[in-house]
Amino acid sequence: MKKWSRFFQNEEYLEKTRMYILNEDMRGYVTEKIGLTVGMKVLDVGCGTGEFTRYLARQTNGISYTGLDNDPDFIAAAKKRSQGAENGNSFEFVTGDAAAMPFEDGCFDVVVSHTFFNSMPLYRKALQEMKRVCRDGGIIASMTATDIEHIPLSHGIYPRDSEYWKKDYDVLLNKVVAMYEKVVPMNDYLQGIPTAYIPNLFEEEKLRSVSAYPVGRFFSLSNSAVPAEKKRRFIELEYISDRKRLECVYEEDEAKAFMTEEEIQAFYALLEKKRDYLLRHLEDNRIWQWEGGTSLLITGQKASADEEFMSAIMNMIK
Ligand SMILES: C[S@@+](CC[C@H](N)C(=O)[O-])C[C@H]1O[C@@H](n2cnc3c(N)ncnc32)[C@H](O)[C@@H]1O
Repeated sequence: MKKWSRFFQNEEYLEKTRMYILNEDMRGYVTEKIGLTVGMKVLDVGCGTGEFTRYLARQTNGISYTGLDNDPDFIAAAKKRSQGAENGNSFEFVTGDAAAMPFEDGCFDVVVSHTFFNSMPLYRKALQEMKRVCRDGGIIASMTATDIEHIPLSHGIYPRDSEYWKKDYDVLLNKVVAMYEKVVPMNDYLQGIPTAYIPNLFEEEKLRSVSAYPVGRFFSLSNSAVPAEKKRRFIELEYISDRKRLECVYEEDEAKAFMTEEEIQAFYALLEKKRDYLLRHLEDNRIWQWEGGTSLLITGQKASADEEFMSAIMNMIK
């Protein structure tokens, strides 16, 4: 598999998408359901650039957060992006494999992950590792979009005056997407378990009191309740992340068979036109581009080995 941060979801893509997946108004609900309190040691597995870690930290105080990811570029970005974002908490970010974590048994009170179980082929092994590094009675939590194919995502119904760039953009976008599917297929990255099965996975791995909570909102550029500053940042991040990803993929030799250099340059120019058009119409609230959906927060508690043993006996004699 080619590097995650370079070919699939770069730093700016993670920031852009977390603007709508991680709703600020539901932050208190999420941290309460996970049960975060002062003094805890919390591990975020597959933390990427730390967007979810900082989301939780904006709600908490006095928590020591550790983030783990196997992509060293994401870990470097997580460290940089977390400077000054402590809010009374502390952060440490570590490069490592979720299937063989560099931590001692039982050293965390809570182990969380965000959009991780969908992306990791060894998801069962990762959950077993999460259990190993969590203390007895501690909480393991996963938050993930309800199902990748069910995320409502629209490139928008654009007004007629956008036609001077939108038609050409759509033609080239289809070619770009087809090229990505050949050079860096999405299925290489999304090899985990669908969200709907994560509660079953938690039960199979003998977590107690497994619970699921829906968390979510739509995000739309046509929503007048979204502040202009947030929309502006979203539009700029979309431009940077789309362009960066295309640059990285087109450096691969196989990519040259799918699009010419002229087409790539034309697409960069259209990405700029799209960005400038959206920025010009920021306050209109009539550009119907919407994304996001519902996430499922799933929590379970780690029982001690003795409790697991007793519960197995009780099940046998039932
Ligand atoms: C969809 S991203 C989520 C990033 C972050 N949790 C967020 O929501 O912004 C999935 C992350 O899992 C990481 N990952 C995939 N396999 C991994 C493994 N075996 N060990 C550690 N991290 C892994 C990827 O590098 C990527 O950062």
